[in-house]
Formats: sequence, structure tokens, C-alpha cells
Amino acid sequence: MSKLWGGRFTKQTDKLVEEYTASISFDKELAEEDIEGSIAHVTMLGKCGILPLEDVDKIRDGLLAVQGMIRRGELEYNVQNEDIHMNIEKALIDLIGPVGGKLHTGRSRNDQVATDMHLYLRKRVVELVGLLIKLQEALLEQAKQNLDTIVPGYTHLQRAQPILFAHHMMAYVSMFQRDVERLQDSYKRINVLPLGAGALAGTTFPIDRHFVAEQLGFDRVYENSLDAVSDRDFIVEFLSHASLIMMHLSRMCEEMVMWSSTEFAFIELDDAFCTGSSIMPQKKNPDVAELVRGKTGRVYGNLFGLMTVLKALPLAYNKDMQEDKEGMLDTVNTLQGALQLFAPMVSTMKVNKERMRQAVNQDFSNATDIADYLVNKGLPFRQAHEVIGKAVLYCIQNHKYLLDLSMDEFTEFSTLFGDDIYEVLQPEHVVNARNVYGGTASNQVADAVSRAEAIVRESSDWFSLYLEKSK
Ligand code: ARG
Repeated sequence: MSKLWGGRFTKQTDKLVEEYTASISFDKELAEEDIEGSIAHVTMLGKCGILPLEDVDKIRDGLLAVQGMIRRGELEYNVQNEDIHMNIEKALIDLIGPVGGKLHTGRSRNDQVATDMHLYLRKRVVELVGLLIKLQEALLEQAKQNLDTIVPGYTHLQRAQPILFAHHMMAYVSMFQRDVERLQDSYKRINVLPLGAGALAGTTFPIDRHFVAEQLGFDRVYENSLDAVSDRDFIVEFLSHASLIMMHLSRMCEEMVMWSSTEFAFIELDDAFCTGSSIMPQKKNPDVAELVRGKTGRVYGNLFGLMTVLKALPLAYNKDMQEDKEGMLDTVNTLQGALQLFAPMVSTMKVNKERMRQAVNQDFSNATDIADYLVNKGLPFRQAHEVIGKAVLYCIQNHKYLLDLSMDEFTEFSTLFGDDIYEVLQPEHVVNARNVYGGTASNQVADAVSRAEAIVRESSDWFSLYLEKSK
């Protein structure tokens, strides 16, 4: 079969080379975008008088016919045609004859493939924002159900100070909000049109790049033709944002795995989101959480893979850049898979309030509060810290908690203690005493929930608007 670029060659391509250099096995994912871009391009060629309108019509109809064949799974891709661009062009020429060969006027696969990637990624970024919003909504719902659930808060994974479970959920809402904002911000660098850059230097035809941009909904065109075909920053940026999202999910997975262990027993994951063991009948494993945690590795790997591919590439296009696709496609799939499961896994998670309460009653996480109590009575904080350290040690040696100490025992440590200490040490008191903006006091957390709900509503409006725009 003759190649679309066969003219200057005297020999057939080696079979193994053909297979080695082909990208059709994975870039077929870009078929829709490729046809979309080609239709805009050929429409512009007609408008600028570069191609007669009757040719443009034939090519456009032909492209739509090829699109139909692809959607119905009727187009057989062939490695001999190397990639999606040439498979589609070949199918077009087979369908409408030599006039199909006019489509590639004033264009190169270099600006074509870059355009496809921009079109592809802007859709996926919007969809991912939608999935992040669903997850934030699930977290907000759990927060609202747990505005009075007190749980130990940890530093160094040692009990530190009690917090509301709602406060913990809201920390994740904030983390995923940053992810939403990063993706939204990246849209403006993704939504730039490379087409018209040609292979690297522009084109001799009197094309109208802005008209193509307008048809495809791009906000801008690349300023520099060399940059347009060399740039993969927008993919690196996406992979980096994706890595952060996976890192956030993975931290939450780790907590879910821990919390659902018998040792913690703070939560129970729904049966629908767990799997069993082939040998141990009692097991219910948090496989989804573990696998999302595990898949974080491949997303980081994809980021570093592409960074390394690009690091010493001279301008402009190099075949190395074909390696930008699999990592991007894999990252999109990995993220979609994780986020789709995460929201329902969070909303169906059962929170064991009694067990959390029991944990809080059996620790020293109220120790800071007695130190603060003595400070309020005039003792310098350092001294108060020392006194309470001694009291804690005494408790440990005598198998007691601070609330078990009698008034006499308290006064042994400091005469500043009064009866009100028993009230101060109650978990509710400890939590509600942290009544600062962003703190864990219940009124603060309730306010944080309302503020976050308003922000998520704004993101939802953005999502609806950009879902339309990115189509
Ligand atoms: N399949 C190629 C890629 O994904 C398309 C661009 C090819 N350009 C070229 N000059 N060989 O990068």
C-alpha cells in the first residue's frame, strides 16, 4: 500500500519500523477531535478562497461520513497509515477520491496533532472538574451529617487534639477546591489554537487562523508558529495537576484504609465498595481505596515520563513527542476511574460516632486545654506546659485519664485549678473552644460548610458553562 508521504522513497518501510513508529493503536482516541479540527480547517480554506467551495463541501461531507464510520466501528485502522491523522485522511481519499488530498493544504501533522491534543484535553479538564464537584458534594454531605461527631485529631499519627469529623471532611473539600481551581486556570492555556503553524514556520497560503480558532471555540491562537508545534507545557501542567489530585485522593485513601481497620473502626465502607478474600472468609478489604492509592504511582510516572521526554528536545517537532499521548490518555482514564468511584464511596461510608467518642474519651487530647486553662489563670504558658506534662505522666503511671483526676489530685499539680476544670476538659468544650475562623468549633465548621457550598455552586455554574464551550 502506498504511503501518503511515499514520493521520495524508493523502498518499502521495514515492517518492524512501521509497527514501531505507528501510534494508531492509541491515538485513535483522538478521532473525534481530528475530524472536528479538519472540518474547521477546510471550512477556512474555502472562506479564504484557497479551495473552491464545491471541493470544501465534498471534503466536509466526506469527513462526516468517515466520522460516521468511526462511530459505528466500521473504519478499520491500519498501522501502515501510522497514526489517526493519516488513517482518517486515507479513508477520506478512499471515499471521495483525489479531492480528499486537498484537505492537508496549508497544514502539517505537527500543528494538526497539537490541535487535537488541545481539543481533547479541554473537554477532559471540564469533565474532571465536574467529577471533583461531585466528590466535594459527597464530602460536604458527610460533613453536615457529622457536625457533632468528635474524633481524635492527629499529628505524627499520635492523638493530638479532638476535632469534629466534619472539620476533617472539610479539609478535603478545601484540598479538592484547589484542584478545581488549578484545572479551571489551566483551561486558558489549553484553549489556544496551534493550527496554522504548519510544520514549524507558518504557511505560504493566505489562511485565517483566527477564523479557525473562532469555529473551534479557542480563545486565542499561538503567537509563535515554532512554539505552537513544540509546546507540550499544557500537557505537563495537566499531568502535574492530575498528580496533585491523585495525591489528595491517596492521602484520603490511606485514612479510609486505616479508619476501617479493626484497630480504628472509625468508619465502615459500604459492601459495594469492598471485596473479599479468596481464603479468609471474614475479610472485607478496602480494595478501591488501596487501588486508588496505588494508581497514584502511575500518574506521577506519566508526569515524569513526559518531563523527561521533553527536557532536551530541540525546537520544533521531534518524533519523541509522539510519546506525549499514552501518558496523557492513561492519566485521564485513571483520574476518571478514581473520581467516579470516590464520590459514592464517600457518601456510602458509615461513620461510627460511638467508637470515635470512645476514642476521644480515652486519650490525652485535652491536655493543651488544661495548659491553656492555667494560662488564663495567669501562669506563663511554658510553666503550664511543664505542670500538665507532669500530670499526664502521673495519669499514665496510674492508669487514669485527666478527667479521672480528683480535685485533690489536680491541686497537687497546681493550686490554680478550680471545679470548672471538669467542664473545660469535656471534648465538646475542647472542640468549641477553638472558635477561630477556620477552627474546629461547631459554629465555625457550620460557617465553613455554608461558605464551601457557595463556592461549589459557583464551580457548578462554571462547569455547565464550560461543558457547552468545550464541546
Ligand atoms: N503521530 C504523530 C504524533 O503523535 C503525529 C505527528 C507526526 N509528525 C511528523 N512530522 N512525523 O506525534
